[in-house]
Amino acid sequence: MKNSIAIIDLGGQYCHLIGRRLHRLGIHSRIYRPETRAQTLGGHAGIILSGGPQSVYEEGAPKISQEVLQLKVPILGICYGHQLLAQMLGAKVEKGRSEYGPAKLSVASKNSLFTRLPQEQTVWMSHTDTVTELPRGLLTLASTEQCRIAAFGGTAKGYYGVQFHPEVVHTQYGEQILRRFVSSICGLKVREDATDQIKPLVRNIRARVGKKSVFFLVSGGVDSTVAFALCAKALPKKRILGLHVDTGLMRKGETEDLRANLSALGLADRLQIIDKSRLFLAELRGVIDPEEKRKIIGRLFVEVQSDAMRKFQIDEKHWLLGQGTIYPDTIESGGTRGLAAVIKTHHNRCPEIIDLIRKGRVIEPLVEFYKDEVRELGKRLGLSSKLTNGWPFPGPGLAIRCLCSRSRAKAQPAGKALATLIADRNYEGVLLPIKSVGVQGDARTYRRVLALHDRRGLFDYGTLQFISTKACNVLAKTNRVITFVAGNVTSLAAASVKRAELNSERLQLVREADFIVRSRMEENNLTENVWQFPVVLVPISFAGGETIILRPVNSEDGMTADFARLPKGVLRRIAEDIIKLPGVDAVFLDVTSKPPATIEWE
Ligand code: XMP
Repeated sequence: MKNSIAIIDLGGQYCHLIGRRLHRLGIHSRIYRPETRAQTLGGHAGIILSGGPQSVYEEGAPKISQEVLQLKVPILGICYGHQLLAQMLGAKVEKGRSEYGPAKLSVASKNSLFTRLPQEQTVWMSHTDTVTELPRGLLTLASTEQCRIAAFGGTAKGYYGVQFHPEVVHTQYGEQILRRFVSSICGLKVREDATDQIKPLVRNIRARVGKKSVFFLVSGGVDSTVAFALCAKALPKKRILGLHVDTGLMRKGETEDLRANLSALGLADRLQIIDKSRLFLAELRGVIDPEEKRKIIGRLFVEVQSDAMRKFQIDEKHWLLGQGTIYPDTIESGGTRGLAAVIKTHHNRCPEIIDLIRKGRVIEPLVEFYKDEVRELGKRLGLSSKLTNGWPFPGPGLAIRCLCSRSRAKAQPAGKALATLIADRNYEGVLLPIKSVGVQGDARTYRRVLALHDRRGLFDYGTLQFISTKACNVLAKTNRVITFVAGNVTSLAAASVKRAELNSERLQLVREADFIVRSRMEENNLTENVWQFPVVLVPISFAGGETIILRPVNSEDGMTADFARLPKGVLRRIAEDIIKLPGVDAVFLDVTSKPPATIEWE
């Protein structure tokens, strides 16, 4: 154990990610609950305290015992963990200036955590409280504009805290900072981890399945196809069967692509396809709330799967249900142990599935993995690069990219608020009467969207990034910012929300817009330049129609993301094609990072 790290889960979205990052450095780690006895933690070479959604002052906020500080084991606190450690050492923590997404870190002391790293670096933040005063013995190691004590250290005792998240890929030198903590400070030997993951996965599947068979729900995306292919490698062909449900919420050509991919693996005869589009649409009619949509879709998947099992005479006692769940699906749905906040209920974490998991009836070979790792596995399994590099598509499909509304509210001018963010008067701003999901300070938010229009028609990505970050940090009502690209719009003030529900016409509209985006990106060889590119239909009207939002992002694992800077010519051409679709009034570009916004809108 002395050659491993203890991670204390304080409810953060990225707690498990800390373990994966250490794993890549060849360092073993174990995740513990906050109430774990100090003696147990003392057996490790170092302790990392994760982030969390609460304030240290909140009743019931997770705490660790003071005895942990007597262990003479180095401790690194991250975000909430940084605040908790600082408070336990006598520092002051206050409601501070919030920061979500990118921030410029200036390193004041290059000792320890920052040795040989640049003075200025980009870090990813997600916090509301801050450490404002340090006791004697602790030094400020780095600051950002909003946060004076963005990192501290007490070298004598080996206590360190960072307000930002070194474990997320968007923190420029995050891996190096973790590497310095585990190697220079905890004394562990770091090695690059390049072990083949397939053999242990196949072993685990065989052990878990035993003599049973696996009935798989295959969406056609990389996660479920890789999980299905892994099971096909581990088990005789006749002991796996895939079911693809055409929900009517798929993208154009999706079912045909899945058939082709499974044929290439010699598995086409192990796949059944059923069309349930009418059922899904009927159950979703009139539903506005995104979480309700997600739960209905999850439940329907389980019902359809149970019906199909009966139809194919598959006996529940001898079959397990296979799913391509990956780790972010679990953590964003509220984690596994109740401390992390629910950001979105992923379709494979609805109550009915949780119940089946409790009964031991589900196998999810990829549940500890992230998207980038799954892609790597797919490559090693020989899946086509079109599939392994393809943009992720969420299980609930276009249903969560087609926003619905019962209101008819108007946009609110946001000129005054905008003036506090930026002196440049070329930008017009309105607060749209529509909400989308965000993740701020490790908690879910459901807030309004700030729409911008640069009257000069420029796309100055730097300025847009600046306004978007500042707006979400400062304006409590906002977690997402979009900017006008095309349409017959003279003033954003004309915007109002219109009544809209999920129906086949609207789904067809967003499907066509999505197809335009995919085709144009492919023609311009840009598909691999972005990680994912959701296209969202929102019932914001300027002249009786609706609005399409383009949401290209760059990410590695989906846990954090930055909006992708598309070449402006391509962006305009895409928007001009979409605006020709009947019923589209305007096209906007989403210019928000994650956090504060999530990648999908719902
Ligand atoms: P968010 O919107 O939470 O999304 O930033 C992170 C990644 O997860 C995908 N996503 C889902 N995938 N079932 C899935 O299989 C779901 O319910 C689901 N919801 C979001 C999203 O497309 C992005 O890649």
